[in-house]
Amino acid sequence: MTKTATTSVDIHPLIAKRWSPRSFDAQASITDQEVLALLEAARWAPSSNNTQPWRFAVVRREDELFGTVTEALVGFNKSWAPRASAFIVVGVESVDAEGRERKWSDYDTGIASALLTTQAQELDLHVHQMGGFNPDSLHATLGFNERTKLITVIAVGRIGSTDQLSEELRQRETAPRQRLELSELVVHGLPGSIKNHS
Ligand SMILES: Cc1cc2nc3c(=O)[nH]c(=O)nc-3n(C[C@H](O)[C@H](O)[C@H](O)COP(=O)(O)O)c2cc1C
Repeated sequence: MTKTATTSVDIHPLIAKRWSPRSFDAQASITDQEVLALLEAARWAPSSNNTQPWRFAVVRREDELFGTVTEALVGFNKSWAPRASAFIVVGVESVDAEGRERKWSDYDTGIASALLTTQAQELDLHVHQMGGFNPDSLHATLGFNERTKLITVIAVGRIGSTDQLSEELRQRETAPRQRLELSELVVHGLPGSIKNHS
């Protein structure tokens, strides 16, 4: 099974080979150095006016709060995600200390998460982001301030066997990855398709 992206030209293997598995290895752990590398990669993301609105809580499988995060997951996320080595709960300080809205904070935090994801790939780790969780029970427990909205939980770990998945999830795990065509995404200026507006 290959999950590598099919592209019209070569792109960096770290990007082409990234995908979001559900078959994490429940025995694998993540080292302090690896956790620090993920957080450093996110820290150096660009952000609007350098506001750096992203906030993270790292909860490793050994951590007593791992069960609390697992409980907060919704639907089928509860079944596969606890086999990851760690959860990184991602928050966004979407208003500043004076209560002013930070218009681009979600965008900024998405960039930081993307860099974290690419660094994970470099370390032979995989991540799977989840919007399917209930933030209410996590907010204060994990130490986020009241200006921070929790936006995703990122499962981080190493890939294991697909045997542990339900039949439905195993099929999804081995299915080819799909994307819209560039022509559907690029409204103007796609090489080879430039039109003359006269
Ligand atoms: C913000 C966000 C929320 C997501 N939420 C979930 C989720 O709750 N459960 C899940 O299984 N996958 C979730 N995903 C994973 C996507 O379904 C996945 O990235 C997408 O299908 C593309 O697959 P790929 O990452 O393997 O290329 C989420 C991804 C993102 C970026």
